[in-house]
Amino acid sequence: MAKEGADMTEETQYMIDRNAGKEGVIVESPSNAKEMRAVVLAGFGGLNKLRVTKKAMPEPQNGEVKIRVKACGLNFLDLMVRQGNIDNPPKTPLVPGFECCGIVESVGENTHGFEIGDRVMAFMNYNAWAEVVCTPVDFVYKMPDEMMFAEAAAFSLNFVAAYMMLFEVAKLREGMSVLVHSAGGAVGQAVAQLCSTVPNITVFGIASCFKHASIKDSVTHLFDRNTDYIQEIKKISPDGVDIVLDCLCGENTGKSLSLLKPLGTYILYGASNMVTGETRSFFSFAKSWWQVEKVNPIKLYEENKVIAGFSLLNLLFKQGGYNLVKSVMNKLLSLYEQKKIRPLVDSLWALEEVKEAMQRIHDRGNIGKLILDVEKSPTPLMANDSTETSEAGEEEEEPEGDNDSKERMPFIH
Ligand SMILES: NC(=O)c1ccc[n+]([C@@H]2O[C@H](COP(=O)([O-])OP(=O)(O)OC[C@H]3O[C@@H](n4cnc5c(N)ncnc54)[C@H](OP(=O)(O)O)[C@@H]3O)[C@@H](O)[C@H]2O)c1
Repeated sequence: MAKEGADMTEETQYMIDRNAGKEGVIVESPSNAKEMRAVVLAGFGGLNKLRVTKKAMPEPQNGEVKIRVKACGLNFLDLMVRQGNIDNPPKTPLVPGFECCGIVESVGENTHGFEIGDRVMAFMNYNAWAEVVCTPVDFVYKMPDEMMFAEAAAFSLNFVAAYMMLFEVAKLREGMSVLVHSAGGAVGQAVAQLCSTVPNITVFGIASCFKHASIKDSVTHLFDRNTDYIQEIKKISPDGVDIVLDCLCGENTGKSLSLLKPLGTYILYGASNMVTGETRSFFSFAKSWWQVEKVNPIKLYEENKVIAGFSLLNLLFKQGGYNLVKSVMNKLLSLYEQKKIRPLVDSLWALEEVKEAMQRIHDRGNIGKLILDVEKSPTPLMANDSTETSEAGEEEEEPEGDNDSKERMPFIH
């Protein structure tokens, strides 16, 4: 059975405690500042396309709040954006990032429900990785008093996506079984915690071996991603599972479908397998595409299987689903206040350390969520590290494939 509660690692607790002194509602920003720092992606490609630059200070429009950002979430999707490995990529240069939290600094005209000084978290359609953001109130939520900024930045995207897949799409109920890939990641841990809020759920988790000691209590059965997990799961549950959450795509799609029980639901919500090297690989893209089992509705009818897809960002920003998301967020905040869920934070990074943070996800090193802490000073640079604040330019180029980021300390201690 999935274990109760949401224990944090000592490391997470330490990092959050360390940041506790920074919490508060004092808005210190110089109201006349004309510029702010932001991470900019100069073009699609490798880590060398990222830099921190000064940008014009945004001002809130009708129905928007201006937020002095404290922390931002770094997601696997941000790697895919950096590589240009997404549908309809926007034009570069751009400021990446889909979620952040901070303190409301001012509000635009006709903006209701928020006041200066409110501690908030927000979804952004890009532009989150900056000292200041402006966004419509439809995508903004008040933080519970006891929630730290590092937690808030780790909360929105992962928990809302996990909740909607489990409860809105797959209708998770008592006694069901769930298979989740990347179980040690940010979404994976949100899935595991939410499953523990329903009685008698069996969670099959797949993750890299070195994470097992840290996350074994969060799932019922844990398998190394390099083992034949289909056979292992069938040994325990010969009929298969009720829900498969697949963020890998490619060869895992067919395997996952073969594990579904009659009336079971398979949800595709990511394509991590498409990321192989530092830059986009057409070969990996094509391989994933070809390996996806072609869906035949007649076969689904015969086998009684449900296939679904889920994209929170499309739901929010392209399909007008923000009211539904708001109601889900209210339920999640209530679970947080009842101490039934709590985001697992892997590590905190300065904006200037964004390359190292991304490298950590590439290297499969994270257990839980990576956070960009806007007030954190970067770890001192070693000689020849060129991660820097640039006032000059978003179009600056560096040679492809530089590995300067590896000169920094990989962890925050
Ligand atoms: N559709 C949506 O609304 C939505 C929302 C949020 C996230 N997602 C998707 O959910 C997945 C997880 O996202 P997340 O932000 O929580 O990230 P995450 O799980 O924290 O991501 C990192 C982990 O993914 C695993 N992984 C699998 N393939 C990988 C690869 N090719 N390169 C590096 N790591 C790989 C690694 O864990 P192991 O080595 O342990 O497997 C790694 O530690 C992603 O596919 C993301 O796009 C979708």
